Amino acid sequence: MVINGKELSVSLKTQLAERVAGFAETYGRVPNLVVILVGEDPGSVSYVTGKAKAAAEVGIRNTTLRRDASISEEELLALIAELNADDDVDGILVQLPLPRHIDENKVISAISVDKDVDGFHPLNVARLWLKQPCVLPCTPKGIIKLLKSAEIEISGKEAVVIGRSNIVGLPVAKLLTDENATVTVAHSRTRNLAEVTRRADILVVAIGRERFVTADMVKPGAVVIDVGVNRDSRTGKLCGDVDFEACQDIASYITKTPGGVGPMTIACLMENTVECFLKRMDK
Ligand code: GUN
Repeated sequence: MVINGKELSVSLKTQLAERVAGFAETYGRVPNLVVILVGEDPGSVSYVTGKAKAAAEVGIRNTTLRRDASISEEELLALIAELNADDDVDGILVQLPLPRHIDENKVISAISVDKDVDGFHPLNVARLWLKQPCVLPCTPKGIIKLLKSAEIEISGKEAVVIGRSNIVGLPVAKLLTDENATVTVAHSRTRNLAEVTRRADILVVAIGRERFVTADMVKPGAVVIDVGVNRDSRTGKLCGDVDFEACQDIASYITKTPGGVGPMTIACLMENTVECFLKRMDK
């Protein structure tokens, strides 16, 4: 069974749009998301375009501020300070990765925690690990929604996450732990990786390498969630971290790239923007 992230994202966005439609009357305005894109990395440009399109669908106001890759760290921090102080801005997202001369940690920490729609701010990360109310990072949140939508039991299961990034691997491991899975975080230095991944009832792959997961790495009947978005070196098309063709008959449930995790990430960003807006309106 293919878990259709595209379809689920459409239903999530439709529900959000229905809620947002009432906001102008209740609060006098709609949520406002500002996305900052530094440079012209094709992957980042495509993500940012997708975010703007989703915002339009949901009725969220969206501005994308494009800055040259040569922008200084100081200038970027000044821009963030300006947006932090702007009462009409509810969400600030700085598309990553940033050029090497800019310290990503400094930039993420500079975003007001109340406007951190990515859930990347150190305070949001701490709240996640302490199980306190927080903005959840979009991709991990979307993955849990995908599993729940397919009514996949998580509690008591062996989950293996390949990848230990701050954006996906570590937070999704934490969310799976909170759902009572037994979680292993595997990565590039893991010995006998196939042996580890073959234990997984739920395998989440976020390593960023084209067709990295092959059929021999998947336990029959496992649930396989592919977070990867890569360019196929043979066809130039988008492809995931999992060899879909080879694994689809072994897995019980599997996601596809594109049309799997990606659209859910964007839908969750819209949900986070609405949550930040409502929290600010309540203050
Ligand atoms: N780059 C890749 N994924 C993400 C994401 O979820 N948020 C931001 N800001 N940048 C990214």
